[in-house]
Amino acid sequence: MVKVKIERYSNQLEGIGYVGGKIIFIPKTKIGDVVEAEITEEKSNYYRGRITDDNSKIDCPYFYDCGGCHLRNFTYDESLNLKENSIKQLLKKNNLFDKDIIVHENINHYNYRNKISLKIVNSKVGFYQEKTNHLVEIDNCLIAKDAINDFIKDIYKIGIKNGLITIRCNYNDELLIVISTEDEIKYDFNELKEDHKIAGVILNDKTVLNDNYFIDKINETLFKVSYNSFFQVNNAPAATIVDIISKNVDKNDDVLDLYCGVGTLGLSIANKVNLVLGIEIIPNAIENALFNSRLNKIENANFILGDVSKSIDKINNDFNAVIVDPPRAGLDNKTKSFILDKFPEKLIYVSCNPITLVRDLEELKTKYSIKSFDIVDMFSFSHHIESVVILERK
Ligand SMILES: C[S@@+](CC[C@H](N)C(=O)[O-])C[C@H]1O[C@@H](n2cnc3c(N)ncnc32)[C@H](O)[C@@H]1O
Repeated sequence: MVKVKIERYSNQLEGIGYVGGKIIFIPKTKIGDVVEAEITEEKSNYYRGRITDDNSKIDCPYFYDCGGCHLRNFTYDESLNLKENSIKQLLKKNNLFDKDIIVHENINHYNYRNKISLKIVNSKVGFYQEKTNHLVEIDNCLIAKDAINDFIKDIYKIGIKNGLITIRCNYNDELLIVISTEDEIKYDFNELKEDHKIAGVILNDKTVLNDNYFIDKINETLFKVSYNSFFQVNNAPAATIVDIISKNVDKNDDVLDLYCGVGTLGLSIANKVNLVLGIEIIPNAIENALFNSRLNKIENANFILGDVSKSIDKINNDFNAVIVDPPRAGLDNKTKSFILDKFPEKLIYVSCNPITLVRDLEELKTKYSIKSFDIVDMFSFSHHIESVVILERK
């Protein structure tokens, strides 16, 4: 056990202090805290620790065990300031942007997530304590939507001994339940309909009740979302992202929507631009995106299945606007070279990982400057930061 004074924060917004001159990262602490911690990892140049004298005033009983929220020891406003400062520092350090960044608050600080995954071990439902295989049972998650929390108490009825369950919830509180397990399940899933609005149940990739998708909505655009398609986990901030993009496109734009998922961004702005072409690697998501064009009576959008880095070479049109919304790994070198080579007039980078975002902006800054930088608080009380960066040609 060590006693540590927290002096600053890491990029992951963990507290940083020192033990015998060596740096120690202790998550879920604040600058100025003097905490008792156990060392959980020792490397040649740093330690990682875990707080042992946890503060019982935190509103979630699972906070110190769960990997979902990292900043519940701060007020909401403090957590947002922390995210803003961390982005400002990153941008300043890399000489990328010195104007004001705009921060969009999440209108729902609680019960905003439309998807959670829970482990089931020996018929108990919960999550693994961070970096262990120790199951912590839960019956409620403060950031999950109410309809998801109402469902958690009924999971045991299904009779899964060991497995994984993902609960997704749309704007209308309909649930899509995705189960993977090696157990033989004899449950009549129709019973779930008595207490919940069930869009569908998928057991080991087979639909066992109703459909394998639901319809969700962002602003007024409807989206068919299959059980294995990506969809933004928080609808209100997703609408804010769409609004930011909308303000930066116009009717002359031919938009290439890379990593398009079910067409969320491209279809949301299709009525404002000349045309949209989306590329996405998950077959169901592309099937959804094509369906979603028809569902919303959009005639100027098309979508192709493929790995962005392999498909971009095959595109014939010259797109003057490119939206990229990659996974946490950010853009690969080939995609960055494609952008720098084609040199579209407008480049919109939506990112869920500031570290890879800044890495990519470093390379793109040879030809682009940042016109605006917005933080959209998609993942309140977690350390994750969603950014929307509008770039323009130098
Ligand atoms: C952060 S999500 C964004 C999705 C979409 N823009 C939206 O707003 O819902 C990233 C998407 O990229 C897709 N993806 C991941 N790697 C890819 C790749 N190499 N090529 C194409 N799509 C990829 C994922 O399946 C996911 O749908």
